Amino acid sequence: MSEYVYHLAKKHHSVRKFKSEPLTRETVGKLIEAGQMASTSSYLQTTTVIGVEDEAKKLALKEVSGQPYVVDNGYLLVFVIDYNRHSIVNEQQSSDMTTSFQSVEGLLVGTVDASLMAQNIALTAEDMGYGIVYLGSLRNDVERVREILDLPEYTFPLFGMALGVPADDENGSPKPRLPLEHVFHVDTYNNDRETHRQQLADYDQIVSDYYNERTQGKRTETWSEQVANFMSSKQRLEMDQWLKNAGFNKE
Ligand SMILES: Cc1cc2nc3c(=O)[nH]c(=O)nc-3n(C[C@H](O)[C@H](O)[C@H](O)COP(=O)(O)O)c2cc1C
Repeated sequence: MSEYVYHLAKKHHSVRKFKSEPLTRETVGKLIEAGQMASTSSYLQTTTVIGVEDEAKKLALKEVSGQPYVVDNGYLLVFVIDYNRHSIVNEQQSSDMTTSFQSVEGLLVGTVDASLMAQNIALTAEDMGYGIVYLGSLRNDVERVREILDLPEYTFPLFGMALGVPADDENGSPKPRLPLEHVFHVDTYNNDRETHRQQLADYDQIVSDYYNERTQGKRTETWSEQVANFMSSKQRLEMDQWLKNAGFNKE
């Protein structure tokens, strides 16, 4: 038994600064193949990945995300939930599948499939020595992303991923995660709120110390502060309409 992948996974941190060394098409192809071998709900294969190579398109996507590494990277991928191919099968098989891909379950299936594929790609890329960062920021304006990438009905851009060789001064490091016992429960959900409160308080201190050390005292926020700040700013409330416009969530 090898613990190689365990150690690889434990080393992960998001990389947001890359050398200007583009990945070759051959490397990208291998990454996509590795991604495709992720498990896929009912063998439905509901993901399409778009490699964005056109500089103008990358710039337009950067406008949506507001993040420079959407342009400055070795390669840019966009993960798309894709039932367009199923709509072709639907026509050819004269079946009636539309309710399935317009349903909330269809949306969940597509979301899970794309995420599993992406994480296979992320781990494979990290094993090859590349860094990655996911880009949920592309959902700041789903309509615009659909326009830029010419996405048809029954497709939805879920997130992007920037990849590349980490810059020499890229100074990220693995961020501490919640304690194991907080996220792993056995047989029943442990809803002892006092225990949870204590675990979160201890974790807050760990995260604050981590930022303090990493930024020489410029940042000292706790995990709870970060989460409260993020989750109290109402974000992307148009999502339901954007999903419906793409043919999803119409049940
Ligand atoms: C679906 C998803 C979307 C994300 N979107 C962004 C993003 O738009 N911009 C960004 O800088 N990081 C993004 N991230 C990275 C997270 O901020 C990062 O994974 C988290 O802070 C933990 O840090 P780590 O990956 O270095 O361990 C995203 C991560 C995921 C899983």
